[in-house]
Amino acid sequence: MFKVVTPKSEEQLEAYFTFRWTYLRQPWNFPPGSEKDEYEQVAAHRMLVNSAGDIVACGRIHMNTAEEAQIRHIAVHGDYHRRGLGQMILGALENVARDLGAIRAVTNSRETSIEFFSACGFVVEREAPNELGMLRRQQMVKKLTDFNSLVLHPEWCKELQSTWTDTIPITEHMGIKLRQYTGKTLETKASLNKNINVHGTMFAGSIFSLATLTGWGLIFLQLKERKLQGDIVLGDGNIHYHKPVTMKPRAICNIESLQGKFSLVESDKKSRFTLQVNILDDQTPVAEFKGVYWVLPIRDSSSKGNG
Ligand SMILES: CC(C)(COP(=O)(O)OP(=O)(O)OC[C@H]1O[C@@H](n2cnc3c(N)ncnc32)[C@H](O)[C@@H]1OP(=O)(O)O)[C@@H](O)C(=O)NCCC(=O)NCCS
Repeated sequence: MFKVVTPKSEEQLEAYFTFRWTYLRQPWNFPPGSEKDEYEQVAAHRMLVNSAGDIVACGRIHMNTAEEAQIRHIAVHGDYHRRGLGQMILGALENVARDLGAIRAVTNSRETSIEFFSACGFVVEREAPNELGMLRRQQMVKKLTDFNSLVLHPEWCKELQSTWTDTIPITEHMGIKLRQYTGKTLETKASLNKNINVHGTMFAGSIFSLATLTGWGLIFLQLKERKLQGDIVLGDGNIHYHKPVTMKPRAICNIESLQGKFSLVESDKKSRFTLQVNILDDQTPVAEFKGVYWVLPIRDSSSKGNG
């Protein structure tokens, strides 16, 4: 399980900058310290850590103007490439940019990362100055609209959101929205105001609903990825609450926690899946949900779909 963390303590910031140097400067023999520039104080920094607490990815954004965010210093640990972590850290940075009011993001991409940024919705605009005096770069741009915030397969994400709205109307009242899908991670959010209890925190039942729907959504999207269909039902769910939600309710489900056999769905048999959903209050982990879901064969051809 990977989570997005904002490095805050001196120790975390040191580890974050060391990681940046290791993957973005050391290979070209630049000394420690060369990974920093004049925007560090005004920038927002994010890193991904694994369950052991080790940093596996990093990235940074700062605002060029009131409407334009610049993304820099994205790197993923060499052992973790092509597992969706680059997209996960980029998505987290884009969300920060949106929260700061940006309507477009720019990045100066090295030649070797152009395909990565293209896969994440950026397009090449023009040649950018070389990096470190030798690495050719292209300026790439992405419009930050709600639609493209879904990164991968926006059409499936729209279908999932409307399936929730049409078949479970309470999701609309709870303000549950899909925030991001990277192919490997699904992130949702809910409105605190619409789910508030007498203590001014999020109602525990709403947190449970947000978690179950997020797990349900990840299975829905994974069926789509495999061109499969089935009725997804919750078999069992357990949630452990550590802290109240007082700011921004978010739920994240990563494919790494998903276990079950899609081959059974393919052979039109029912199949059991287990997964974990992490609930966060903005950046702070506050609860974990473990769910058992069943994917049942669709018997009635007139009602085909994943609802
Ligand atoms: C660029 C980088 C951040 C990508 O991170 P990553 O975690 O491997 O990327 P993801 O797994 O999120 O990739 C998402 C998609 O981007 C595309 N992509 C990523 N790396 C790619 C590569 N080397 N070649 C072609 N396409 C690539 C693919 O479409 C991929 O989806 P897929 O794996 O389902 O095919 C990583 O390679 C890295 O740290 N490189 C060294 C540092 C660097 O160059 N940073 C950018 C500075 S401008």
